[in-house]
Amino acid sequence: MQPALPDAIQQRYACRKFVAEQPVSLGELALLLEAGRLAPSAFGLEPWRFITVTDGAERAAIAHACLDQPAAATAAAFIVIVALVAALDPDSVYVRKQFKAEARDGDPAPIHDAYRAFHRPESITEWAKGQCNFAAAHMLLQATHQGLGSCPIGGFDAAALSAALRLPAGEPPALVIALGRCAHAAPQRLRKAFD
Ligand SMILES: Cc1cc2nc3c(=O)[nH]c(=O)nc-3n(C[C@H](O)[C@H](O)[C@H](O)COP(=O)(O)O)c2cc1C
Repeated sequence: MQPALPDAIQQRYACRKFVAEQPVSLGELALLLEAGRLAPSAFGLEPWRFITVTDGAERAAIAHACLDQPAAATAAAFIVIVALVAALDPDSVYVRKQFKAEARDGDPAPIHDAYRAFHRPESITEWAKGQCNFAAAHMLLQATHQGLGSCPIGGFDAAALSAALRLPAGEPPALVIALGRCAHAAPQRLRKAFD
């Protein structure tokens, strides 16, 4: 039985060990990507790209870039979320295209002006990575909904990960999501008290 959204919020947990030889299908990955695609983003800029990794050798390289953490070393698949930092220049073709769509049939100039006033080269990288976390949250809950285990991994060597995925300059990795059938039950949930 697939958990509905409130159940998925309750039941999601970071899986630290996945069952061996239990692949994640392309159909399952497609549903996760769709959940990420539909995530909200500031200015509607969608400053992300999602890279799926299922191949054994490539998975090993990603796991190594994730410092051989157990969740990464046992994952059946990864979705790596890359931040489209270079594309966020206010005068880029990408930004113009996004704002044309965001304005629907209206004038994109006001939103473009607002973005130009907001944009700071020195903070845009961290800002873009923050946007990527919204897509990640969608995908993590979708994974639970699909009965998949997941672990968000921010502990990685960015240079090694970029090299393994041959990422172009201006597209740094924001987050890795390890995926598979989880080999352990949900641990006791640790959270601050409601009040
Ligand atoms: C941005 C981010 C980065 C994370 N990086 C790692 C990581 O590198 N390795 C890891 O094992 N867990 C990582 N986690 C998982 C957290 O440790 C986990 O979500 C937290 O302890 C709460 O536990 P829960 O997800 O099971 O509720 C990360 C979570 C987030 C949101």
